[in-house]
Amino acid sequence: MGLKLAWIFLLGGLQGLMGWYMVKSGLVDNPHVSQYRLTAHLGLAFIIYAAMFHVALGLLTPAGNLDVGKRLRSLRRFIQVLIGLIFLMVLSGGFVAGIRAGLAYNTFPLMNGHFIPPEIFILEPWYRNFFENLVTVQFDHRMIAWMLAILVPTFWFKSRQLTLPKSTHFACNLLLLMLVIQISLGVATLLMVVPLHLAASHQAGAMLLFTAALWVNHKLR
Ligand code: HEM
Repeated sequence: MGLKLAWIFLLGGLQGLMGWYMVKSGLVDNPHVSQYRLTAHLGLAFIIYAAMFHVALGLLTPAGNLDVGKRLRSLRRFIQVLIGLIFLMVLSGGFVAGIRAGLAYNTFPLMNGHFIPPEIFILEPWYRNFFENLVTVQFDHRMIAWMLAILVPTFWFKSRQLTLPKSTHFACNLLLLMLVIQISLGVATLLMVVPLHLAASHQAGAMLLFTAALWVNHKLR
């Protein structure tokens, strides 16, 4: 426990440093910072939160002794992939907010009449588009959302086919519900051209969705 807490403490210190490094890139005359540093700061915040939540869950409800069958093992792997994808979605959200990509293409599901807008590879070299082209950054955020919109319900159906404790099914239901809320908040934020209250709720929603996925993972251990 001491070692785990020491790691979290260290990451907290690093986050302070990261915050300073982010602010150094802007916030002097206008409220704008580097999208790379903003995303690093956001990502590290989620990692620290995950570590704290993991430790807290371990103390509150030590990992159970579920019967480890093949199907349960595959469900565990599935939730771990989902956690990774939700984390990637958070990083992608950092870039969307960081270059204010939410202020353009305020229609859904099409972007200016296209599912794949023609401008996604206009910058050279091509990889810069993923971080600096607001069309590509917003397009990626939408694509990962579509993936989650398919994979999370698939996970939920798979979990229903197994006999699991009631509280584990409850955690899976919560994950599905949180995805619906989060996608709705994201689309509303986009359609209403990023009003602060919706943007902030969408950011908090990301944290709750991530939490639900971490909780399901703990329940399946
Ligand atoms: C499915 C899960 C989703 C997750 C986990 C997620 C996560 C995030 C996160 C963490 C941010 C950064 C917020 C900030 O730092 O201020 C963000 C920004 C944003 N997301 Fe999502 N998002 C999701 C779905 C969507 C969808 C479906 C849309 C719309 C098509 C959307 C539209 C936006 C917009 C417009 C912003 C920028 C808000 C701003 O400028 O403050 N998101 N998202």
